[in-house]
Amino acid sequence: MEPSAPQPPPAAAAIQIDSHLDDAEERSLAEDVLDGLTRPFKELPPKHFYDARGAELFDQICELPEYYPTRAERAILERTATELAALTNAVELVELGSGTAAKTRVLLDALHGAGTLKRYVPVDVTESMVRDCAETLTEEYPGLRVHGVIGDFERHLDHVPPAIGPRIVAFLGGTIGNFTPGSRRRFLRKIARLLSPDDFLLMGTDLVKDPRVLEAAYDDSQGVTAEFNRNVLRVLNRELQADFDPEDFDHVALFNEEHEWIEMRLRAKRELIATVRGLDLCVHFRAGEELRTEISAKFTPERVDGDLSAAGLELVHWLTDPDGLFALTLSRRTSR
Ligand code: SAH
Ligand code: TRP
Repeated sequence: MEPSAPQPPPAAAAIQIDSHLDDAEERSLAEDVLDGLTRPFKELPPKHFYDARGAELFDQICELPEYYPTRAERAILERTATELAALTNAVELVELGSGTAAKTRVLLDALHGAGTLKRYVPVDVTESMVRDCAETLTEEYPGLRVHGVIGDFERHLDHVPPAIGPRIVAFLGGTIGNFTPGSRRRFLRKIARLLSPDDFLLMGTDLVKDPRVLEAAYDDSQGVTAEFNRNVLRVLNRELQADFDPEDFDHVALFNEEHEWIEMRLRAKRELIATVRGLDLCVHFRAGEELRTEISAKFTPERVDGDLSAAGLELVHWLTDPDGLFALTLSRRTSR
């Protein structure tokens, strides 16, 4: 290097960030909304919740007394991280839907402690979260490299950088439950392609339990989840010049016993017509008509096992918390 060339600060050298959010992403929002709001039963895909405000509201949800999944998953990680580090010898951790990587630190601590950890690869649609966590983690873990991928994990898994050694792919928070059953298996098959024979998938799934406990987790007494749900309308107002008044909609969270999933909906309090100028679209809602914004599937051991095998993965460890609320599974590619 030329003697006069500016030297990057040490932390910056440890960070690489690739962004795949471009015009295609805006088109994807437009297409999803056009498709979802003109269906006989209106619905929107969940990834559009997470703008900066949505991400902040989600962080608040994780702290709520009713929202047990975060605490339960953290408890499992705390109990098993050392063992997981020893078993996997992972040099890198790839995390899908990494968010603020709050619980991830438990795993990073263990891998760092075992002396194997070299790189963390967070993948998330929310740009600010990937950038912030890259900054903080390179400061917290000296020597750690962070290669952040800003993008849609449904479309950009090919852009996850090639492995530099044995890896763990983590998919925490029960986010896999936000896929419908068919697309869940398809997505797991794509994840399986990120794994070599020495690699592992570490996945968090919320478990089937008393519907009252489940419904409270998605309809808290402080109304934070309601605000999070309505936030998707604010995203449409801003990004697609729509004119929704979020207060025209009630937050609804119901456990569907047949499918064993939680459904989040927004229910129009009155008859209304919303205009989405960016799509040149008028949308009619009957009084009481509902827009489905999310499903969050709940799992039994059989359901997890069925999904993993359908994706060419086999269970190595089933880890749960003392109350049996949540499960973490370690799996790897089926040998043969
Ligand atoms: N892993 C964290 C956050 C879970 S919330 C935890 O366990 O607490 C879900 C995260 O996935 C959010 O950070 C959201 O921005 C991200 N996400 C949702 N859909 C996504 C998509 N299609 N592609 C990439 N990231 C997505
Ligand atoms: N992956 C989380 C879950 O299914 C996301 C989530 C929690 C969520 N609370 C929510 C999504 C409320 C929409 C509305 O548990």
